[in-house]
Amino acid sequence: MFKLKLTTPPFFALNVQTNISLLTFNTFGIDATAAAFAIAADVAYLQQVLEKNRQPVFILGGGSNILFTEECYPWLFVKNNIQGIEILPDDFPGASEFAGQETVKIKFGGGVAWHEAVEFAVARDWGGIENLSLIPGSVGAAPLQNIGAYGAELKDVFVSLEALDLQTLQLKTFSRADCQFSYRDSIFKSAGYKGRWMITGVVLELQKNPSVNIRYGDLQKTLTERGVARPNIVDVAAAVVQIRRSKLPDPALIGNAGSFFKNPEISAAQFKTLKLQFPSLPGYEAPDGKIKAPAGWLIERCGWKGRRIGAVGCHEKQALVLVNYGGAKGREILQLAELIIADVEASFGIRLTAEVNIVAL
Ligand code: EPU
Repeated sequence: MFKLKLTTPPFFALNVQTNISLLTFNTFGIDATAAAFAIAADVAYLQQVLEKNRQPVFILGGGSNILFTEECYPWLFVKNNIQGIEILPDDFPGASEFAGQETVKIKFGGGVAWHEAVEFAVARDWGGIENLSLIPGSVGAAPLQNIGAYGAELKDVFVSLEALDLQTLQLKTFSRADCQFSYRDSIFKSAGYKGRWMITGVVLELQKNPSVNIRYGDLQKTLTERGVARPNIVDVAAAVVQIRRSKLPDPALIGNAGSFFKNPEISAAQFKTLKLQFPSLPGYEAPDGKIKAPAGWLIERCGWKGRRIGAVGCHEKQALVLVNYGGAKGREILQLAELIIADVEASFGIRLTAEVNIVAL
């Protein structure tokens, strides 16, 4: 008898859906449509889907750092849902900033929610990521922009990651050096790498006898207000959660993607000139002798803080955060961003750049 031999299953058998709303897959709450959509819980499934697929592919993490500016994307969206948390042997290759101390290496699946990873570590008194509490998004997306907050950055605890090349369908390991981390940046945002990799797992190295990092002004102040004289990592995590909740809008209530812009790094000479004109301009040391100026301050000085245009606006408590009050189109957010960029440039001669990944065709 003749038997049909299928090497790859048909698309429908792989649970690839068509014309799916992305509304619940981005924290800005933009209702764009994906031509095709799949949820990948493991690498083998993803390889099968991609073998059959001829459309461009867009990998979705937690959707917390993207802005959809189109109504419809003729692409295959793949939601990274690779779970799992694994304690690795001590001799696992690679090292973080904590090398030489008593540490533990942990591999997190790319689809694990970032805050879940933080809670896992804090509950075991393993230190290094407590300052990064409550950052929305997934572990797999964290290295892309080297997430950072309250004086800590992912790169400090990062050992390596495993990623699937969406072109060759091969897995590759990237060391800390390979990732080329800097402020809100990595090799995965650069030409030739952007959009080409799906991060399937991330290895972090955490301290077993943690020391706390409370250099960030707001953090010290909040701990003092909470009456904590000698904080441990549980106290630090609680304080970070309190600060974030007080300043940043909850995406479950108001659409947003955290800081929309990066804090610009300007030359010391430009900073000195601006300081003469604007004596209260804050500045923080950045690499290569540059000064980081808080974009929130620049935007607030231009009068944008709390301003609303239709369904979009600049958040009332943190000018760096743009919000969707409900039903906004992605391009309305983009237009607001462009107005803010133009005003800041006219007032300070500084051109802000987006931190959020603007997804255009
Ligand atoms: N500021 C203002 N007005 C504002 C907001 C800020 O004047 O409306 C000034 C103040 O001088 C304040 C300074 O900016 O002291 C810094 O503000 P904040 O501590 O809120 O931090 P940020 O620089 O605005 C960055 C990150 C945040 C992170 C915080 C805390 C970037 C782009 N953003 O914001 O990250 O939570 O520091 O470490 O670096 C994110 O990436 O989505 C994010 C929320």
